[in-house]
Amino acid sequence: MDSKDEGSALCSSPVYVHNPHLDALKEDILYHFSLGTETHNLQDMFGDVKFVCVGGSPWRMKAFTEYIAAELGMEDPQSEYPNICAGTDRYAMYKVGPVLSVSHGMGIPSIAIMLHELIKLLYHAKCTDVTIIRIGTSGGVGLEPGTVVVTKQSVDPTFQPRFEQVILGKTVVRNTDLDQSLAEDLLQCNKELNQFKTVVGNTMCTLDFYEGQARLDGAFCSYTEKDKQEYLNKAQEAGVCNIEMESSVFAAMCKLSGLRAAVVCVTLLDRLKGDQLGSSHEVLHSYQQRPQILVGYYIKKQLNAKAAKDS
Ligand code: URA
Repeated sequence: MDSKDEGSALCSSPVYVHNPHLDALKEDILYHFSLGTETHNLQDMFGDVKFVCVGGSPWRMKAFTEYIAAELGMEDPQSEYPNICAGTDRYAMYKVGPVLSVSHGMGIPSIAIMLHELIKLLYHAKCTDVTIIRIGTSGGVGLEPGTVVVTKQSVDPTFQPRFEQVILGKTVVRNTDLDQSLAEDLLQCNKELNQFKTVVGNTMCTLDFYEGQARLDGAFCSYTEKDKQEYLNKAQEAGVCNIEMESSVFAAMCKLSGLRAAVVCVTLLDRLKGDQLGSSHEVLHSYQQRPQILVGYYIKKQLNAKAAKDS
């Protein structure tokens, strides 16, 4: 290793796990990915990963892979971007160069399980300096549908910036801070792109799409329209710009593992004006592309800057 390499290795930031029991495992089976440390050479497969993008739907993450491959000039006309987790239907995973794209399903439990295995995967693969971004959809609070929200803080349904995990019957409170410099970089990218409105604000993370998000159109509802409006107005006063179901555990787990993390969600509707997703499929589809476009621009800019520095 020459002194330049040694210097950069010293500055590089690893992915952390905090679990002494892992060392005792002969093999670590990443069951929901259908991958393992004995059956796969994770360092060969994933060691070059620098960006991880996660989103709810497998279809959307495949579309993101195709999009980013074209943006980075890394399309492979011979290959259909195989799903790396093909042995399971739990999550889908695709890779193009240094960009990994993984689906996480809906809600905190689903994304938490995926993140445990993803963080271990990045750790076993000895990845360094990884940036992770959730690209998703949300309900807006007082925003024009189609606005993109870069999350400042993920807050719980009482508007507190925290995530509660019950471990051995005891509630452990975890911090939900996200990387503020990454959020600023993304906002700067949006200025340069100049294609759609993007704001920075708090994101409320709930356990449910209906009662948990004060909707009036679930199977059960025990509150009035006035109660709903009062609650959403209070959320807005607390700086909440949008509502979704994954950001709190995402922020908490990424912080624990030393990953530079951001949440970028488009709003599909304004919850101050309604509950149902009534826009046409085409309109919703075009909104869903916005986080992909912004994050794709950011990744390309970072890779171009690194290539210029290295040359
Ligand atoms: N996702 C959510 O969690 N809520 C919405 O209103 C829209 C998308």
